[in-house]
Amino acid sequence: MTTPSKVTVALKSNSYDILIGDNLLEVAGEVLRERFGSRRIFIVTEDRVAGLYLDRLRHSLFEAHYEISEIIVPGGEGSKEFHVLQGLIEDLLEAGVARDSLIIAFGGGVIGDLVGFAASILLRGVDYVQVPTTLLAQVDSAVGGKTGINSPLGKNLIGSFHQPKLVLSDTSLLDSLPKRELLAGYAEVVKYSLIGNAKFFGWLEENGVALVSGQKSAREHAVATCCKMKAEIVSKDEREDGQRLLLNLGHTFGHAFEADLDFDSRLLHGEAVAIGSLMAFDLSARLGYCAASALEEVRLHYEKVKLPTLLPRLNEHVWSAERFLSHMNRDKKVRNGKKVLILVRRIGEAFVNDQVGESILLDVLDAYIDS
Ligand code: NAD
Ligand code: GLY
Repeated sequence: MTTPSKVTVALKSNSYDILIGDNLLEVAGEVLRERFGSRRIFIVTEDRVAGLYLDRLRHSLFEAHYEISEIIVPGGEGSKEFHVLQGLIEDLLEAGVARDSLIIAFGGGVIGDLVGFAASILLRGVDYVQVPTTLLAQVDSAVGGKTGINSPLGKNLIGSFHQPKLVLSDTSLLDSLPKRELLAGYAEVVKYSLIGNAKFFGWLEENGVALVSGQKSAREHAVATCCKMKAEIVSKDEREDGQRLLLNLGHTFGHAFEADLDFDSRLLHGEAVAIGSLMAFDLSARLGYCAASALEEVRLHYEKVKLPTLLPRLNEHVWSAERFLSHMNRDKKVRNGKKVLILVRRIGEAFVNDQVGESILLDVLDAYIDS
């Protein structure tokens, strides 16, 4: 194992570290013992990750003399639902979780969001550690303490801010990630460059293809760069009153597409964000905030790495711009009845805007439906 990189999320209280490295799972027990001493540990994971990696995590914790309980929930966005949350909380209570326990969220963004939320409401708050297993979770969802589940009325509408005590990102776990999932995570990587780091976009232009083909050094560099950016943003704006809003580039659009499909896997979260980010560039160009050439640069980059640039044609589902708009009006970022959107001035500079009219929005939404 190479020495892991460390990024600190510096907060007024409860600062924590993100450790990033290949094969970190092997030393997870040692790291937890050093930082948290003797605690009862509850690992919560999902079926696929359990089949691939639970043995390795369990072994590492046994070596560090931990007593552990394991709970496995079904994988997939469908697990971010009330009934799964309720079952998980009851399983944890039955297994004897206490206020001084440590819960490990071991999986992708779905597990991180679900388990983080469970930890925040169980016994009025139990400590938890994120061990993210997807690219999306390593660069984004495991960091920053946003937790939650979906409602039939919209994405992530039920949740809390509950920061983890530590994030352990073992980049070797990404070796088994299906290509489509890796690419979906890559969309969030590109997002960081688009909102605040033009130099990183240049690096992705050079290294993006290698990264999505599994090159380890490119992968580690990208995870560390995104975590540094996110840590800095969250340190300044933990509860999303300002700068943190920029991390939602493409998300208000993306959440509308996901809600339109009842959160099934025909469109992954990262794919929805990718198309949503293009729409944000398009809208910004039409409104005169940024040059059309910036939109083209982003589109070409997506084409190069094979990210989607249009909402795909699906059997038995007809997309509708009007329906997207009604989903967007229920987004949690609506303030004083106005949709808060993230627009751009150029690659590397995003800003918040709540003045976009519905007619131009409908035109843009319509332009990205593959017909
Ligand atoms: P996910 O957790 O569903 O994982 C994607 C798929 O990969 C699943 O099928 C899973 O079983 C599989 N998988 C996980 N790890 C694997 C591995 N190492 N090898 C092989 N397969 C593996 O999805 P995701 O893309 O990680 O996360 C998406 C979720 O994250 C969405 O619900 C989204 O709302 C949420 N999210 C939250 C935040 C936040 O700040 N809290 C930010 C971004 C996204
Ligand atoms: N993924 C957006 C945020 O954490 O704020």
